Amino acid sequence: MKPDIFQQIDCIRELPTLPAIVLKVNQMLQDLDTTANQLSRVIETDQAMTAKILKLVNSSFYGFKSTIGSISTAVTILGFNTVQHAVVSLSVMKSFARIKNLKRLNIQDFWRHSLAVAIISKHLADHSDKTLSSDCFTGGLLHDIGKLILAEYFPEHFEKIWLTMIDSAISFVDAEKMADTVNHAEIGAYLAEKWLLPQPLVDAIRHHHSAFSSARAAVIIGVADLLVNTCFPDSEGRILMPDGLSDAPAFLLPQLQTLSGWYPRLQEEIASACQFFMDSQG
Ligand SMILES: [Fe+2]
Ligand SMILES: [Fe+2]
Repeated sequence: MKPDIFQQIDCIRELPTLPAIVLKVNQMLQDLDTTANQLSRVIETDQAMTAKILKLVNSSFYGFKSTIGSISTAVTILGFNTVQHAVVSLSVMKSFARIKNLKRLNIQDFWRHSLAVAIISKHLADHSDKTLSSDCFTGGLLHDIGKLILAEYFPEHFEKIWLTMIDSAISFVDAEKMADTVNHAEIGAYLAEKWLLPQPLVDAIRHHHSAFSSARAAVIIGVADLLVNTCFPDSEGRILMPDGLSDAPAFLLPQLQTLSGWYPRLQEEIASACQFFMDSQG
C-alpha cells in the first residue's frame, strides 16, 4: 500500500478539484494592494457563491440588523479575511459534496470536526501570530481531508485502520502507524499540492500530527485538533489544559492557560458556523 498509493490517487479520474475562485481569492489577498471592489468582482463571477455569501452575511451568524445586498458591502463590513474564509469553506465543502455515504465515516461529523479545528486554529493564530490566521483557518478545515480520500477511494484500507483503532483503543493516526502505511496527513498534503495550495499550507496539513516539531501553522492546527478532541469542561465548568499540551511551545501557552476564558465562546461560534455551512450544502 505504501509506495503506490500516490500513483493510485493520480489515476482517480473524479478526484475532487478545488474551484479556481479559491486560488484566485488567496492570490489576491497576498497582494496588499487588492481593493474591496477587485475582490468583490472576482467573487461575483460565481453566482452560486455570491448568493451563498450574501445568505451567510445576512444570517443570524453575524447578526446585522440591516440587509447586506452586495459582496462589496459584505467585504467592507466583515473584512477581507472573513469573506475569504466563507469562500474557502463553501468551496471545499462543495468539492466534496458528492461524497455522502461512507461506511465508517460520518460526513457531518467530519465537517463539524474540521470547522471546529479551523475556527480554533484561527483563534490561536489571531492571538499568537496574526500572519498565520488565514493559513490556519484553511489548514484547519483541510487538515484531515486525507481521511475523506481514504474512506471514499480506498474503503478496504480505511476499514482496516478503523478496526485497528477500535480494537486497540488508539487514535486513527496511531492505527496508521501500527499498520506502517502512508498516513492521512501525507495524503491530505498530496491533494493540497495537486490543488496548488501555497507551500506553508501543504506543510501545515502534512505535519499536523508531528508533535510540536515543525512550522508554526502545523503546531497550531495540531494543538487545535487536540483541543477539539480532548477539551471538555470539568464538573465546575472550568476548562483545564489537556495533559498532552503541557509541553506545548511557549508562544501558545498564554491561550492554553486561559482556556476557560475563551473556549466556551468559540463553541457557540462553531455551532452557528456548522449550522450555516451544513445547511448551505443541502
Ligand atoms: Fe489528523
Ligand atoms: Fe483532526
